Amino acid sequence: MKSAREDVSGAAEDARGSGGQTTADMPDADARRAGARVLALTSGKGGVGKTFLAANLAAALSERGERVLVLDADLGLANLDVVLNLAPKKTLHDVLGNAADLEDAILPAPGGYSVLLAGSGLIEYSRLTPEVRDRLAQIIARLAPRYDRILLDTGAGISDVVLYAVSLADDVLVVTTPEPTAMTDAYATIKVLATQQQRRAIGLVVNQAGRAGEGRVICKQLQLVVDRYVAPLAPLRLELFGEIPTDEAVRAAVQRRQLLLELAPGCAAAQAVGAIAARFLANRG
Ligand SMILES: Nc1ncnc2c1ncn2[C@@H]1O[C@H](COP(=O)(O)OP(=O)(O)OP(=O)(O)O)[C@@H](O)[C@H]1O
Ligand SMILES: [Mg+2]
Repeated sequence: MKSAREDVSGAAEDARGSGGQTTADMPDADARRAGARVLALTSGKGGVGKTFLAANLAAALSERGERVLVLDADLGLANLDVVLNLAPKKTLHDVLGNAADLEDAILPAPGGYSVLLAGSGLIEYSRLTPEVRDRLAQIIARLAPRYDRILLDTGAGISDVVLYAVSLADDVLVVTTPEPTAMTDAYATIKVLATQQQRRAIGLVVNQAGRAGEGRVICKQLQLVVDRYVAPLAPLRLELFGEIPTDEAVRAAVQRRQLLLELAPGCAAAQAVGAIAARFLANRG
């Protein structure tokens, strides 16, 4: 049987199952968890489209019948609230600080899914203290039975907060753009995830692609470098989950603080997000 770390797509039923454990027993995604499959969206370079993708992929998965929650795991510079035009009274920071009940911080988002927002500009819980670690793991374990999928919208880079959030996920999607700087940083992230977290499969989304097929080319290029420099330490398969073209409608949707899937469901980028969602569902089996 494959372990959760070998299966980026959602097919490994062994990642869930026993349930009923307390979160103290669940330091990371290796622990068995009932319910939701947890997917982290991360990147090396900032600003490549993680939050846009998390918000819209969640909508696309919901549209296809999944119960989805997006957790704003970018604790320092959260901005999912801005993208979704939501102003939460209680945030993840309040929950982390025991100042609010988890239930009071969960909001319905426009795309038919739930969100747990971190709120912008708060640094108090942006450091990875042992308390923050425990609370985050507890929160995910408490939410897991109620959803089919939990998306973690992480920050960019390889800070301890980002890596810890990713460690809580069964599956990882690394988002990159075709820019050489973004690709170099994506490689650095992939290398760390392979060597430190023993990931054997990582999903890749190439956002802001300039032409059809660019995603495949970039995935191949990254896989070649991985095979050369990472595989001798830790074999790793990159799996292309999709490419999303540069699309003016994305900028317009962010500007209007609306979901792309609601504002322009037929546009090329929205279709590409839909295809990524379909791929997750097909792999779930
Ligand atoms: N496919 C696209 N076409 C056009 N513009 C895009 C596309 N994807 C993202 N953008 C633009 O890039 C901006 C940054 O995206 P987003 O905030 O999702 O990145 P991020 O990776 O979450 O950033 P951070 O690292 O700061 O969290 C968006 O506001 C949007 O204007
Ligand atoms: Mg973001």
